[in-house]
Amino acid sequence: MMSTQLIALSLIAICITTLSLACQVRQHTEGESFVCVCNEAYCDSINTEPNSLPDHLTIFQTDKSSHRFAKSLIHVSDLIYDSNQLADVRVKINTTDRKQKIIGFGGAFTDAAGINLNKLPDSLADKLIEDYFGPNGLQYTVSRVVMASSDFSDRPYSYDDVENDFELKNFSLTHDDHQYKIKYIKKAFNWTSQLKLFASPWSSPKWLKTNGEINGLGILKGDPGSIYWKTYANYFVKFFQAYEALGIDFWGLTPGNEPSVGFIPFLKLPSLGFSGAMMAEFIKRDLGPALKAAGYDKNKLKLMVLDDNIPYLMNFVWPILSDPEVNQYVSGVAYHWYAQSMHEALTQFHSMYPEYFILSSEACEGFRANEKALTIGNWTRAENVVADVIEGLNNWSSGWVDWNLVLDETGGPNWLQNAADAFIFINNTSPEYYKQPMFYAFGHFSKFIQPGSIRLGHTIIEGEVDANIKMTTFLSPSNDLIFTFLNRNQKPIELSISGFVDKPFTFTFGPRSITTIIKPLK
Ligand SMILES: *[C@@H]1O[C@H](CO)[C@@H](O)[C@H](O)[C@H]1NC(C)=O
Ligand SMILES: *[C@@H]1O[C@H](CO)[C@@H](O)[C@H](O)[C@H]1NC(C)=O
Ligand SMILES: *[C@@H]1O[C@H](CO)[C@@H](O)[C@H](O)[C@H]1NC(C)=O
Ligand SMILES: *[C@@H]1O[C@H](CO)[C@@H](O)[C@H](O)[C@H]1NC(C)=O
Ligand SMILES: *[C@@H]1O[C@H](CO)[C@@H](O)[C@H](O)[C@H]1NC(C)=O
Ligand SMILES: *[C@@H]1O[C@H](CO)[C@@H](O)[C@H](O)[C@H]1NC(C)=O
Repeated sequence: MMSTQLIALSLIAICITTLSLACQVRQHTEGESFVCVCNEAYCDSINTEPNSLPDHLTIFQTDKSSHRFAKSLIHVSDLIYDSNQLADVRVKINTTDRKQKIIGFGGAFTDAAGINLNKLPDSLADKLIEDYFGPNGLQYTVSRVVMASSDFSDRPYSYDDVENDFELKNFSLTHDDHQYKIKYIKKAFNWTSQLKLFASPWSSPKWLKTNGEINGLGILKGDPGSIYWKTYANYFVKFFQAYEALGIDFWGLTPGNEPSVGFIPFLKLPSLGFSGAMMAEFIKRDLGPALKAAGYDKNKLKLMVLDDNIPYLMNFVWPILSDPEVNQYVSGVAYHWYAQSMHEALTQFHSMYPEYFILSSEACEGFRANEKALTIGNWTRAENVVADVIEGLNNWSSGWVDWNLVLDETGGPNWLQNAADAFIFINNTSPEYYKQPMFYAFGHFSKFIQPGSIRLGHTIIEGEVDANIKMTTFLSPSNDLIFTFLNRNQKPIELSISGFVDKPFTFTFGPRSITTIIKPLK
């Protein structure tokens, strides 16, 4: 329902030039949309500064057909209200209804990411890090660091593979840390000194495990408080000390990636099984006291539990958060997206445990068994990411952390052939990398909804909001009102928005698009 008034509105919007460098478009025949090519000769950049101007709406739009952060301005006096109320949806924003505070957005330093970065010429690897962490990139503020190996490594290993070394005399970081992670973490810190790192192990050393392997069905040997559990707790302390000695401080940790996997037969992923009750004992008797004694208490290091799919959340956290001897060590919960669209449990969690924050600690596309892992220029996947981020935020999540920062054309390397998609992938044979639609779509969150932003309440007053429409609203620390809208429909969607400027106005969002509207709060 595009009224003539609205056509006029889109003509008033002034397209403005910024210092951004345009996307070097490559459209592959199999791609739904295009990728942006970066090589030594050219790479696009996203300069959005200033994000807002007084008396104007600043609009950034990314879509399937042609735009990547296309910027336009509309003077508030040029806004039109569709008084015939023909808008598809009417929404009201309540700027005094303040909800959760944002921790941040980012991606993960994995061995696979470092292996791919190392294949690029140095200047191009630096460019890639800038694309994620620099002011003209996605401005990431949180990153996960894998402790030792995950499946996205070239082999299984731990920091101490010497059998029964209970004193951890042989603990040491490996060449993987130095060549694949630390090198690039330091470059990231160069762009953003406020970067919050959190660490997650996939498995303990194999000699501490019932199955004697890094992967497959297994839990820690012995009982809570025994030498096996104590040694594993000390292993964490050694890790943080080793990184600290190299000048890298962490902000947080999860005690284990996807602890449910250690109980699933035949899955063969690296893992260490913990039920919620086992995790409660580990934190209470071993990990919590060990970290505290080494100076890594709650004020220094945020311990997040779960680090697994949402359906496990409520049962897993109960034994941990209901016991004051355990919860004294815990700051938040971390969740994964692989169960998809279960975010209501986050709201349930928040209402029961409002003092703990919620963070999405891992997500990636290309994980479904019947689909190709890495697909080029896939717009549907960009929409899936945006939908998940918005549903999470609207259900009290404080941020979202992507999986591997960069993979290769096959979605690897992964020593278990458990390939995936990534926001950026490199060309295996020539010095080039590609920024997928997901990269830009996710940037609509990481660039604007900076740490400290506060979510605002919004209400749908009229119209149908189906799964093809998602929206969220924030107030940034610099006092900008931010409205983010996803339209998955093939047709434009007309929205009437009140509470954003001092009068209601109507805006048309293009088909298959993600849009951010920003305006300084009066
Ligand atoms: C806006 O939110 C505040 C705080 O939650 C609430 O007190 C107020 O009633 C809301 N206003 C409207 C118009 O809903
Ligand atoms: C483990 O450490 C001990 C004592 O420092 C040393 O003698 C031994 O060579 C080390 N073993 C390995 C495999 O590195
Ligand atoms: C960080 O930046 C400085 C200059 O801005 C440069 O000299 C240094 O090499 C950079 N360090 C890394 C690890 O990229
Ligand atoms: C919370 O998540 C559910 C399921 O993912 C979603 O349907 C719902 O819209 C979200 N809540 C809000 C307020 O957006
Ligand atoms: C894009 O991704 C979606 C979701 O994973 C998938 O169903 C679809 O087949 C992909 N499209 C192409 C062209 O690969
Ligand atoms: C990788 O580079 C080769 C050689 O230039 C080219 O043929 C191929 O299309 C590139 N791959 C992608 C995904 O663009």
